[in-house]
Amino acid sequence: MTVRKRVVILISGRGSNMSALIDAAAAPDFPAEIVGVISNRADAKGLGFAAARGVPTRTVLSKGLSRAEHDAAIGRELAGFKAEIVCLAGYLRLLTPEFVATWQGRMINIHPALLPSFKGLDTHARALAAGLRIHGCTVHFVTPEMDDGPIIAQAAVPVLIGDSEATLAARVLDAEHATYPLALRLVAEGRARLEGAATVFHDVEDITRRDRRIVAPVAAATQPDFESLARFTP
Ligand code: GRF
Repeated sequence: MTVRKRVVILISGRGSNMSALIDAAAAPDFPAEIVGVISNRADAKGLGFAAARGVPTRTVLSKGLSRAEHDAAIGRELAGFKAEIVCLAGYLRLLTPEFVATWQGRMINIHPALLPSFKGLDTHARALAAGLRIHGCTVHFVTPEMDDGPIIAQAAVPVLIGDSEATLAARVLDAEHATYPLALRLVAEGRARLEGAATVFHDVEDITRRDRRIVAPVAAATQPDFESLARFTP
């Protein structure tokens, strides 16, 4: 296998997507290795999980630093890790345009909605309020505008009758944990590349495609089969 890409994950909290990436990268044929995790919060739960899995962690607190100073400090840690790809996974701090430009095409983010709908926070509450019957998640290249970069992969789940914000969030999170490793794999292998303002795909014929329809509403009593309901692009 070709040399695995060196990936650093930026987190601020729970770190379940980070965990999914660490688990995926534990497979010998995964094209990336997670060489470090950086948090901007000392109490981020994900730090403990990463350390327990033997992944080096760093905390770069933002308190008292300007955004530019903080990003510069993160940049030094990334250089120390010799990072080639950066994954944002629940990283709750806006990045400077300079930092984003430095990592253009090499930094990706996961968002808990089917972009370009529901950028920003509280996506599940907003999806419920809008009466959506289908919701999901998106992994995209990071560009200066928040939640706006070219899409790499998405997965959709049904909104069940009677869903609460918590039940919907849990269903989307399951889909996130499958979608982020797929997207990182595509980027690490150079099969999803940022070219201009678009993601261009190469050699993606092996990605499973089954039933291409998602039909909702789905009765709340029916436990959805995430494998068959999650539809990935490409
Ligand atoms: C996820 O829903 C992710 O999509 C969003 O923030 C949440 C982070 O959760 N960007 P976790 O820290 O990965 O568990």
